[in-house]
Amino acid sequence: MAEKYEEEVKGMKPYVAIMGSTNSANIVVICGSRREPSRVRALMGYVGEVLESKNLEYENIDLGSIELPVFRSQDQNEWDEVTRETVKKYLDADIYFIGSPVYFLGISGALKNLIDHTPWQEFKEKKRVAGIVMSGRNRQHNLISDSQLRPIFVYLGVEVANTSVFAIEPDFGGEGFDLESPEVKNRIEEMVQETIGLSERMERNDK
Ligand SMILES: Cc1cc2nc3c(=O)[nH]c(=O)nc-3n(C[C@H](O)[C@H](O)[C@H](O)COP(=O)(O)O)c2cc1C
Repeated sequence: MAEKYEEEVKGMKPYVAIMGSTNSANIVVICGSRREPSRVRALMGYVGEVLESKNLEYENIDLGSIELPVFRSQDQNEWDEVTRETVKKYLDADIYFIGSPVYFLGISGALKNLIDHTPWQEFKEKKRVAGIVMSGRNRQHNLISDSQLRPIFVYLGVEVANTSVFAIEPDFGGEGFDLESPEVKNRIEEMVQETIGLSERMERNDK
C-alpha cells in the first residue's frame, strides 16, 4: 500500500502530497500571541488539526513560548541562538498560517517583531503563500487583517489567500479560550484549503 502510494505520488509529482505526510513544501503555523491562555493559540491549534487531517506536516512558531529579543540588527552575526533558529524556521517556510490578536488596532508586537527580522530583499526571491487568522473583541476590527497584516505579506511578495479568519470572544467557550464556533471552524477549513490550493497552483505554473 505504502509502495503503491509512493509510486502514485512520484507519478503525480504533487507540490503538497495529501497522504502519508510527504509534503515537500515547508509549512509553518505562527501564533503571534504571547498570552496564556490565548484565543489565537486555540485558533492556530485548529489550523494544525486541519493540516493533520490532510496528513500535512507543519512546524509551529509559537511566539508565546519563544523569547525572541526585540529586533536590533539585520546582521545575523549579532543574533542569539534563539533568534537564529526561529528566523531560520520562518525563512525556510513556503506556506504560512499566520495568527495574531488585534492589539490597539494593530497586530501584536510579538508578531511584528518576528516580521521585522525578515531580510526582505532575499525573502522576495522565493515564492510563498499565506493564510491569515486574527482574533479581536470588536467584530468591526476584522478590518485590521486587510489593512495591516495582508499588506505586509503582499509587500514581501507573498500570495495571501482571499479567505481570512476573524474570531471574536463569543466564538470561544469554556473559560473563553476553547474554540467552539462551527462557523469559525468551517472558515479555518476553507482558509487552509485555499492556501494549500494556491501553493499547488503556484508550483504547477512554475513547471
Ligand atoms: C492590549 C490589548 C489590546 C487590545 N486591543 C483590541 C482592539 O483594538 N480591538 C479589538 O477588537 N480587540 C482588542 N483587544 C482584544 C483582543 O484582541 C482579544 O481578546 C483577542 O481574542 C486576544 O487574543 P489572545 O488571547 O490570543 O491574546 C485587545 C486586547 C489586549 C490585551
